[in-house]
Amino acid sequence: MTKNIAVLTSGGDAPGMNAAIRAIVLTAQRYQYNIFGFFHGYNGLINNELTQLNTDDIDGIISQGGTILKSARCKEMLNQIGVKQAVNVLLKNKIDALIVIGGDGSFNGLLAIQEHWDGQVIGVPGTIDNDVDGTDFTIGFSTAVNTAISAIDKIRDTADAFERVFLVELMGRHSGHITFNVGISCAAERVLSFENFQAEDEQVTINQIAQQILKAKSEQHTSFLIVIAENLWPNGSQVLANQLKEITGIDCPLCTLGYIQRGGSPVAKDRIMATKMGVAAVQAIKEDKTNIMIGEQNNTMYPIALAQAIKHQKQVSPFLVDAQENILAITQQNEV
Ligand code: F6P
Repeated sequence: MTKNIAVLTSGGDAPGMNAAIRAIVLTAQRYQYNIFGFFHGYNGLINNELTQLNTDDIDGIISQGGTILKSARCKEMLNQIGVKQAVNVLLKNKIDALIVIGGDGSFNGLLAIQEHWDGQVIGVPGTIDNDVDGTDFTIGFSTAVNTAISAIDKIRDTADAFERVFLVELMGRHSGHITFNVGISCAAERVLSFENFQAEDEQVTINQIAQQILKAKSEQHTSFLIVIAENLWPNGSQVLANQLKEITGIDCPLCTLGYIQRGGSPVAKDRIMATKMGVAAVQAIKEDKTNIMIGEQNNTMYPIALAQAIKHQKQVSPFLVDAQENILAITQQNEV
């Protein structure tokens, strides 16, 4: 039986979303399903911005960042009127299955839709933050980490040349996957994230880092890099930069990497994983599955109940957090 499948991308775009769209279109064609895309995330669904997707549309997109379907955050999906409008558009277009590529917020939208709609709903985890439970990685995370690493390696060069201290802020919303992975990869002298910092320890932490900087500076001619997660420091990362300068008397410029982390051509890992997830999403539709997210665990595709996937934010591996603390302790010991 043929089916009408629609796909949309929602929330922060992530490199590899296009690779997933490509795999969805090609797999749908293989099963002789009709495949459509809604532009601009759930906003485009509510406003019926529908287009049929053909082979021409996906030509060459596997290497492109962003999303050919555009993306958006949609306030209307937070209320019943918006959800019902979305459902009406799905019914009007005789859509049988909706695939949403996005993060946990976007999956909340899918869950709301399925309460009022009999069609199949499938989530594909796409966000640079890697904070979606039920999958080892989300589409875009690996590329964002690589982009941040190459930017920080450049900051390290100039920091070394001037023996400077830098504070580098990384994305991740309220999770530290990017910060910890990048911090470790760049041998940052300090990693500050939700997993190892509590706001009530603010003063203790500042004093500790200030002492660490002063000690490192007194013992050798060196650069000193601190990576910090966005939304972590009370009143913002610039406040920490100012506080450190005040105590140490040493300039500590803040370098916010920002949206550079969301762009660029996806790395191999994201292209391959996105392709597998796209194929698995359409296969799940063929098998009449619904209400699931396609996750990858231990290199195997798993359907996870959507409600389960959004129940908790995926935590950074405690081993990784520990490894960073251990490395920091050993480095400091060696400096004595
Ligand atoms: O969720 C992806 C992300 O890039 C987060 O890391 C960041 O906090 C947020 O989106 C930024 O959102 P916006 O594009 O709405 O400014």
